[in-house]
Amino acid sequence: MKNLLSISHLTKEELSSLLNLTKKLKYENSIGRKHHLLKGKTLGMIFSKSSTRTRVSFETGMYQLGGHSLFLSADDIQLGRGESISDTAKVLSRYLDGIIIRTFSQDDVVELADSGNIPVINALTDLLHPCQVLADLFTVKETFHKLEGLKVAYIGDGNNIANSLLYGCSKSGVNLSVATPAGYECNPEIVKQAEETAKENHCQINISNHPQSAVKDADVIYTDTWTSMGMEEEKEKRIRDFDGFQVNSQLMSHAKSHAIFLHCLPAYRGYEVTEDVIDGPQSKVFDQAENRLHMQKAILVKLLGGK
Ligand code: CP
Ligand code: NVA
Repeated sequence: MKNLLSISHLTKEELSSLLNLTKKLKYENSIGRKHHLLKGKTLGMIFSKSSTRTRVSFETGMYQLGGHSLFLSADDIQLGRGESISDTAKVLSRYLDGIIIRTFSQDDVVELADSGNIPVINALTDLLHPCQVLADLFTVKETFHKLEGLKVAYIGDGNNIANSLLYGCSKSGVNLSVATPAGYECNPEIVKQAEETAKENHCQINISNHPQSAVKDADVIYTDTWTSMGMEEEKEKRIRDFDGFQVNSQLMSHAKSHAIFLHCLPAYRGYEVTEDVIDGPQSKVFDQAENRLHMQKAILVKLLGGK
């Protein structure tokens, strides 16, 4: 592993090794065992969009590993005034040991990684959110003690989370049903790739506009905001277009009785999910948020610690 730009770049062995290391780091954290695997290392964190979980969990993770992090708001560094990505990457490579970046275009993240010579981690683009979905696979595995053969149903916008779930589930042997309103489907190229990967891993990808059939017999029901960052102007239209795509107790009743509810957060109660579901007994959203910390520590150790 040289960078983490997309789950599609990971081998199955790398994915499974990340899940195992996450489990170990989570356990060791719970018993107060300290590691300084990244002592003396500095992580730059470029953000062009808001963040609570990603920012705080990466910063805390670096601290727990004995390293240091720098929050670099894109508005405050010269990138925001037009300095090129390529020059930024070359300069930051002279100071830092790794960079995480949250921005709009996936191409910018790829360019940052290609232009510098330190590991780059995608902390969310309009297209993908790999750190989130890696942590989510860990949460699912922690709950069911396996991944292969399970069924995840994603209901809502065919966005960065849904695209990364396509990569993550197909690579892990997890069946994935995605139901979006017409016009809000996942990236077709990613769907195609995921279908091919799913074949190799003996699982199925199902794409539809029917939430009720998507959730049938699911082990995991997943949703996300209808209005991702950068799409705020479409909010009212989206609320109308996503009518019927809310995860509520009626929809949950079509899943398996042991099904869990996941949401990457931030959540908007009363829109994509009702309060009784997200705050109810099937919801794992806060364990899911916690697991970002443990998974990202594993990613940092692999990329910056040479493990
Ligand atoms: N889920 C997630 O990435 O949250 P933040 O936007 O708060 O980082
Ligand atoms: N799809 C959401 C995820 C937030 C973590 C967004 O891009 O805003």
